Amino acid sequence: MAAAQEAAAPPLRQAALARGITFGAAVRSELLRADPAYAALFAREATLLVPEWEAKWEALQPREGEFTFDALTEILNFAIGHNQRLRGHALVWHEAMPAWLPPAIAEGRARAQALLENHILQVLTATRDHIRDWDVLNEPVSNPPGSDQPSATDGDLRPTPWLAALGPAYLEMALSTARQVDRTLRITLNDYAVEEDTPWAAEKRARLLRVVRRLVERRAPLDAIGIQAHLQLRNPFSPAPFIAFVRALRELGLAVMITELDVREADALPDGVAARDAAVAERVQAFVAAAIEGGARTVITWGLTDRDSWLVRQADVARRDGVTTRPLPFDDQLRPKPFRDALLRAFGG
Ligand code: G3I
Repeated sequence: MAAAQEAAAPPLRQAALARGITFGAAVRSELLRADPAYAALFAREATLLVPEWEAKWEALQPREGEFTFDALTEILNFAIGHNQRLRGHALVWHEAMPAWLPPAIAEGRARAQALLENHILQVLTATRDHIRDWDVLNEPVSNPPGSDQPSATDGDLRPTPWLAALGPAYLEMALSTARQVDRTLRITLNDYAVEEDTPWAAEKRARLLRVVRRLVERRAPLDAIGIQAHLQLRNPFSPAPFIAFVRALRELGLAVMITELDVREADALPDGVAARDAAVAERVQAFVAAAIEGGARTVITWGLTDRDSWLVRQADVARRDGVTTRPLPFDDQLRPKPFRDALLRAFGG
């Protein structure tokens, strides 16, 4: 985008809102605290903030019975100061567990249920005035053969400490506890690898739909589905099957959100930043347009700047050729990229 056009480009939050869409991004408290330019970018671009780590069990209950909300409160105070909302991520998950939790869950059904219910009670009670939407269940669906990390099961549910201790009932237990604590909370189930045109993504879509349909048929309190959208350029994307999937979830009476959008470059991408950024932007525009066509009205990126992406920090998902990947709307100097322009186009800006 030329400099003059660049100066006129609206903030993503503004362009999205003009289309009835909420745009947000995952944020890290230590960067808000330490980097004024990072903080200014989030203030300008996002309507909604999601703590990348600070609302997880490991951060909120690091020792049994000891709840600490300091880091989450930092993000909350920033959001309040910038007329932004906060969504909670994630109450029940098999990762970001403090070391004491898995053995405690394994002590037996009654102990596991008490831990699950108390965490939900304490966290929702402490945050209810400011967080009105939580990923109550995160990644409960199993990964089919062919996935990056296939689950050791043919069943629809991922083998987790919660499933081992409580059986499939843990899903309704978590959802019902959240509803009992907070009558008007938006209760969300969030999962990933359901976006692309591969046999394993198609199978995971089928598994997620079976899990969600069972919950809806049993009148479990569930309001929304989060689709993480950690897209991978090495996998093809076709709008039609994804639009049909989003519509199927909407027809169950559920809102659909894109909750963690970023794009993992393929190692075989052409050389040169311009070509790589163009390939990422093309996928972003196709995907977000399809999500909106299907009925999604919230789009959240998993960070705003390439510099701070988990795809740069974590060796197991970084580019194998050692080139620093470029997965988000703004680069490591916080300058807008074609990814950002693709979002503006998808929002109709
Ligand atoms: O452990 C330290 C803690 O002591 C310190 O106080 C805190 C504040 O800086 O940092 C903690 O470090 C790391 C934390 O990220 C904050 O950066 C944790 O060790 C590390 O495990 C954690 O990784 C996060 C990961 O989830 C696990 O929680 C990543 O940043 C985050 O991008 C990633 O996000 C997940 C989503 O929640 C679910 N979907 C997949 C996505 C990518 O894996």
